[in-house]
Amino acid sequence: MVNKIGIIGGGYIGGVLVHEIVNRRLAREVGLCDPAPIPNPNDPPDRQAVTAKQSVAIGKCLDIAEGLPTVGRDIRLVGSKDYSALRGADLVINTAGVPRKARPDGTYPTREELLAINLKVTKQVAAGIQEQCPNAIIVSIANPLDAIVYLLNKLLKPPKNRIMGMAGQLDSGRYRYFVAEAANVSTENVTAMVLGGHGDDMVPVRSACQVAGIPVTKFLDAETLTKIETRTRKAGGEVVGLLGFGSAFVSPAWAALEMAEAILFDKRKIIPVCAYLDGEYGVKGLFMGVPCILGRNGIEKIIELDLTDGEKAAFAKSVQSVRKTCDEVEQMTAK
Ligand code: LAC
Repeated sequence: MVNKIGIIGGGYIGGVLVHEIVNRRLAREVGLCDPAPIPNPNDPPDRQAVTAKQSVAIGKCLDIAEGLPTVGRDIRLVGSKDYSALRGADLVINTAGVPRKARPDGTYPTREELLAINLKVTKQVAAGIQEQCPNAIIVSIANPLDAIVYLLNKLLKPPKNRIMGMAGQLDSGRYRYFVAEAANVSTENVTAMVLGGHGDDMVPVRSACQVAGIPVTKFLDAETLTKIETRTRKAGGEVVGLLGFGSAFVSPAWAALEMAEAILFDKRKIIPVCAYLDGEYGVKGLFMGVPCILGRNGIEKIIELDLTDGEKAAFAKSVQSVRKTCDEVEQMTAK
């Protein structure tokens, strides 16, 4: 157990994170920060004054705190509209930004289309971390995932083992769920790795998917697996289309906590993580999803898989997409 976990963003993912941290007794204190609701300058002054006193973060923390005696938990909950609730956090999870949302015609944007707006938010996030908890291990969830981690790293320059993105655990979880459903076996039996960027060309690695240690190809034919892999790549969008109001929030929060627990309990657990590549997989200077050992220092080691030629080509394509979005980050921050 660590002393303090900071959560940036009090939306759907942030709410599940606080709730689960309390239930799982992961820290002595949890801090939640979110500027919402922000007064609208076009509103009359009295309305603006009311909004200025409201706080989603403080409200969510108080709601949960008042339930602590009922569920028998004892944890300090601190909320703030500024970044002060992060003060002294050992680990921060960044969820800040606008999620994907279905348009009235049922279509939805790509994660990459969120870049311009979430880039501005991320600059504030970096300043908040720098001021309140400069040594915290950073796990980032906000989209476009790989580019937001890249930007946080550019602004904060922490040691490369102490900053990472959550995507592979979520994407692999989706792949595992679809395989378990199709093979009609327990989700607990299925292990899998989805690597590369957290975009529609992410790489489900069939050669690394097993059911109770047996290659998945013993259970499912190639056609079924291809359909599952296509569905996995677009699975985030499938949920966006169904929900209508935003994107997935329970499975992303659980996935980030899987990473957080590996770090907090020094488990040395192998999890696909969006990590800084410094030559691994032939990539330098980008954050990409690769299998990592997570322990008390964050990323303890990056594991290089022997990919098939097809998987290597798919990974290279995903690298190109991530590089394109990170180039946009460079252009937008140079202005
Ligand atoms: C998803 C979002 C959280 O994949 O990126 O559902």
